Amino acid sequence: MTTNYDPIAEQYRLSKQQPWRTHIEAYSLLRLIGNPSGMSVLDVACGEGFYTRLLRQQGAAAVTGVDLSQGMIELARRQEELHQQGIEYVVGDAKQLNLPAQYDLVVAAYLLNYAQDRQELAEMTRGIARCLKPGGRFVTVNSNPGLTFPTAPSYRQYGFETSVTGPFGEGSPIKWTFFLGNEQFDIENYYLDTNIHEAAFREAGFRETRWHAPQLSPEGIAEFGGDFWVPFNTYPPVAFIECVK
Ligand SMILES: C[S@@+](CC[C@H](N)C(=O)[O-])C[C@H]1O[C@@H](n2cnc3c(N)ncnc32)[C@H](O)[C@@H]1O
Repeated sequence: MTTNYDPIAEQYRLSKQQPWRTHIEAYSLLRLIGNPSGMSVLDVACGEGFYTRLLRQQGAAAVTGVDLSQGMIELARRQEELHQQGIEYVVGDAKQLNLPAQYDLVVAAYLLNYAQDRQELAEMTRGIARCLKPGGRFVTVNSNPGLTFPTAPSYRQYGFETSVTGPFGEGSPIKWTFFLGNEQFDIENYYLDTNIHEAAFREAGFRETRWHAPQLSPEGIAEFGGDFWVPFNTYPPVAFIECVK
């Protein structure tokens, strides 16, 4: 099991093609972000640049991606070489972000769930708040802090499973197993509850925090039928959060 994306960078990239990624994750996150036209955007934990590229395509004026994994950043830079969009990709740790307050929007898809305790979460949220202009927004999707993972249903029909071993509480590891054809891979992230998140946002200097349930695209309903999505939407394994500085 890993939190290191170097060896699984390509497999993770393929997992972004699973239907729930398109019809729930990307659909919900992009709706929440709204129109980024003309904005200066930082994508933290950008991975191989999935959202970084989309934000630039949707009109963001300047986009920078930061990720801890050299392997992920190499995949992102390879895409940039193939289809130049003027995106800058940097290897860096979100717990040590020290950038000037120059961004209108910070996006982070699956960063906060790598904080293993409230101290690490505070380091991440403080760095993010610092680099936003006053009034700037932070938009993020993570493992759902409101879900009791040990009693969550199977998500196998969507191409993944979650599991927890041992007692469930602050800092508990959550294992996500992704199934890609005959292959599978695991990643591990960590559980911190909703109150811990709210406190971290407040203490970092965000004046508003809004939690959003996943939204399902009309195409997702048309293609798979509404019933297919019921377990996901009843026990959402991911949550969307929007904070305003
Ligand atoms: C699940 S991937 C998400 C990648 C991308 N945001 C996406 O949605 O496709 C999580 C990413 O977080 C990165 N990551 C984990 N901890 C980090 C940290 N402290 N600072 C920066 N990146 C981190 C990992 O290297 C990995 O690329």
